[in-house]
Amino acid sequence: MTTDELKKAAGYYAANLVTNNMVVGIGSGSTIAYVIEALGKRVAEEGLQIIGVATSDKTRRTAAHLGIPIYNVDDVDHIDLTIDGADEIDQAFAAIKGGGAALLWEKIVAINSTKNVWVVDETKLSPKLTHFLPVEVIPYGSDQVFRRFENRGYHPTWRLDQNGNPVRTDSANYLIDLHLDHIEDPFVLGRELTSMVGVVEHGLFLDIVDEVIVGRPDGIEVFN
Ligand code: 5RP
Repeated sequence: MTTDELKKAAGYYAANLVTNNMVVGIGSGSTIAYVIEALGKRVAEEGLQIIGVATSDKTRRTAAHLGIPIYNVDDVDHIDLTIDGADEIDQAFAAIKGGGAALLWEKIVAINSTKNVWVVDETKLSPKLTHFLPVEVIPYGSDQVFRRFENRGYHPTWRLDQNGNPVRTDSANYLIDLHLDHIEDPFVLGRELTSMVGVVEHGLFLDIVDEVIVGRPDGIEVFN
């Protein structure tokens, strides 16, 4: 099976966790595209009734196009379940997210959800976090933040689009990606990044997830 087929199998499995009248946080990325596709089918074919809360503008557009009603996060009084992807998950279920530039809205939706489920193919599981770590920063003064990362040996790079311009997040911020060998203690690093002026949010998702759904060639594995 290809990685894409694993993503699809896990995504369709996760979409079946959604039941009538739920308020559902809908993540971002290529795995979640399959969750949205499956939810769209359930809305059209089964008459599933849900309210979606999108974690990116792209997700909002895709879901709305498939007939899933999308509300703003501030217009719901609770979120029952959020289904999202991840770039890497370690053995303690700490994750790096933000490869798709949506980490800020993803974290806001996640921390306001009763239950969080991540959907990944098996290549995303790792003993330690080694994926580059996205950090969303305010454009004003961001060169200074970048220099501080360099001075701390975090090997930062700007997230650029195909024209070489800085990627703007859905909140119009920049992204700096940190290339660390591995992250020894995600909690310590997370606290350090949160305390830096100019940093809006970082891509370490800690103590958030309730269930991880993994697509493997021999089937779906669920950790909870
Ligand atoms: C976007 C994310 C995604 O969940 C993450 O990048 C995984 O994406 P994909 O399913 O395409 O591998 O955090 O900000």
